[in-house]
Amino acid sequence: MTSKLKGMKKNLTNYGDQEFSIFLRKAFIKGLGYSDDMLEKPIIGITNTYSDFNPCHGNVTELIKSVKSGILSSGAIPLEFPTITIHESFAHPTSMYLRNLMSIDTEEMLRAQPMDACVLIGGCDKTVPAQLMGGLSSNIPFIQLVTGPMLTGSFKGERVGACTDCRRFWAAYRAEEINEEDINNVNNQLVPTVGTCGVMGTASTMAILTEALGLMIPSGACAPAVSSERRRIAEKTGVESVKIAQSKHIPREYLNIKNFENALITLSAIGGSTNGLVHLTAIAGRIGQKIDMKKFDELTRDIPMIVDLKPSGIGYMEDLYNAGGVPRILYEIKDYLNLDVMTVTGKKLGELINNNNKWKQNIIKTKDNPIFEKGSIAVLFGNIAPRSAIIKQSAASEDLLYHEGKAVVFKGLEDLANRIDSEELDVDKNSVLILQNIGPRTAPGMPEAGLIPIPKKLAKVGVKDMVRISDGRMSGTASGTIILHVCPETDENDIFSIIKDGDLIKLDVKNRSINLLIDKDEIENRISKKSKTQFTKRRGYNKLFMSHVMQADEGVDFDFLI
Ligand code: FES
Repeated sequence: MTSKLKGMKKNLTNYGDQEFSIFLRKAFIKGLGYSDDMLEKPIIGITNTYSDFNPCHGNVTELIKSVKSGILSSGAIPLEFPTITIHESFAHPTSMYLRNLMSIDTEEMLRAQPMDACVLIGGCDKTVPAQLMGGLSSNIPFIQLVTGPMLTGSFKGERVGACTDCRRFWAAYRAEEINEEDINNVNNQLVPTVGTCGVMGTASTMAILTEALGLMIPSGACAPAVSSERRRIAEKTGVESVKIAQSKHIPREYLNIKNFENALITLSAIGGSTNGLVHLTAIAGRIGQKIDMKKFDELTRDIPMIVDLKPSGIGYMEDLYNAGGVPRILYEIKDYLNLDVMTVTGKKLGELINNNNKWKQNIIKTKDNPIFEKGSIAVLFGNIAPRSAIIKQSAASEDLLYHEGKAVVFKGLEDLANRIDSEELDVDKNSVLILQNIGPRTAPGMPEAGLIPIPKKLAKVGVKDMVRISDGRMSGTASGTIILHVCPETDENDIFSIIKDGDLIKLDVKNRSINLLIDKDEIENRISKKSKTQFTKRRGYNKLFMSHVMQADEGVDFDFLI
C-alpha cells in the first residue's frame, strides 16, 4: 500500500499504524524547518558522496547546491543524504573490493527513504558503477551526475595530468631517467584541481558510457569539475530529476540490451578503460542482461577508435569537452548505434544526436580517419583463458600483438614485489611476464596490478613494453601490451595456474588467441599435482565478498545481487 504513496508518505517506517508513521516522520523533518505545504511536494534525494578521503569528489558540496536550485525551482524538495564514497588511492585492499558494498548501500538507501526520484552524484572510478548498479536494483527514477574531470597541470613546460603521466613519470624514475627532485616536483602537478582523472581512465570512461546509456543529461559527462558549466549541468540535472519523478520514468523499465550495446560500442570508439567492460557487465546484470564476451568482441571488432586522449592518444578530458564531448562522439558513430532507445530525458537517443557541433577541432576524429582502425579492446580465448581475457590493443605495442616468449612467473603480488627488480631475475625483453593470483578472490578485488612493472634492469636499458598477463585489472590510465582479466582466476583456472618459468606462451591478438605451448601430457601431469588454494573467509563484509563474488566475465558482482 505504501508504494502508491508519494513524497514524505512513501516507504513508511513500520509501526503498524500508517497515519502515526506519517505523523511521526513529519514531526521529525519539521525539526529542519519545513512547513506542511513544503512537505506535500515531491521529494528528490541527492546522494552526498563528499569525503576528505576522496579528492575526485572535492566539488560535491558545490554541485549539491546547484542540484538543489534546479529541484527547488521545479517545485520539489531536495533532500541530500550520505552514502559510501570510494577513492582509488584510499581504498584498501582495492577499490573494486568495495564497489559492491557501495552499490548495496546506494540501493538500500534509495529503497528505504521516502523519495520520488534521486540524483546520484559520483565520479571516481568505482562510484558511478556502484551507483548505477544500486540505482537499477532499487527500481526508482534516478539520474546520474558526475563530478567531472580535473584540469591539467604543467611540469617544466609540459602538460601533465593524472594518471597516465603519474605512471609515465614513475617509469622514468624507475629507469633512472629523472631524479628525485623531478619526481617530487611532478607529484605537485599531477592533480592540480579537484575532479576525476583527466585522461581516458575509468572515471572518464564511465562518465561517457553513462551518457551513452542514456542515464545522464546530454553533454553531462565531460565538463571540468571546476567549471561553471559543471554547475549548470548540476542545476539542469536537478530540473530533470523532478521531471522523472513526476513521470515515474524508471531506468529499470526503459533500459534494455540495446542501450548496453550502445555503451559497448562507445567504449570501443573512445578507447575506453578495460574496467568499463567489467562495470557494464555488472550494471547490465542488475536488469537481468548478460554481456557475453565473445559477442562484445564481435560487436566492437569493426568499431573505429576516434577519440585522441591519453593513454592511447595525446589529449585530456578538457580537450574532449572543448571538442564537443559525448554528443559529438555519438554523432560520429551514429551509424553503429541503436538510435531508438529511450533515455532519461524522455527522448530517444537519436533525437539527442545532432550535427550542431561541427567546429574545427582535432580530438574527436571521424570514423574514416580514426586514431586506431578498429576494435580498441579485443577479447582473447585460449587454454590459459577458457572463459576470456582482454587486451586494450589501442594502447599496446603493435610489434608485440603477435608474440611468442618464455614465461617469467610471479605467484602473486608479494612475489612480484620481492623479485621484479632483482638483478638475478632470468628475464629479457622477449619474456612474457605472468602474474597469478590477483583475481576477484585472491587479492581480493582484482587489484589494478596488471600493469606489471618492467624489471628495473630492462627499464634501465630502454625496454618500455613487454607482454604481461594476469587475472587482475589495469587502470584505464595505463598502457602497454597487457593481457588482463584472465578468466577464470588463477585458483579456478587449471592451465593458467600451472605455468612455470620458461614455458612458451603464444599471443596472437589478430586471431584472438592466447595459449600455453606445452604438450598435453605435461599439462595433465602438472594439473594432477596441483593443490587448491584454501581461502580464508574471515568475517563481516570479507566473508560476504569471498562467498559470493563472481568472475570478471560476470562483472565481479555478487551472485545474489544480479
Ligand atoms: Fe579518482 Fe582517478 S583516482 S578518478
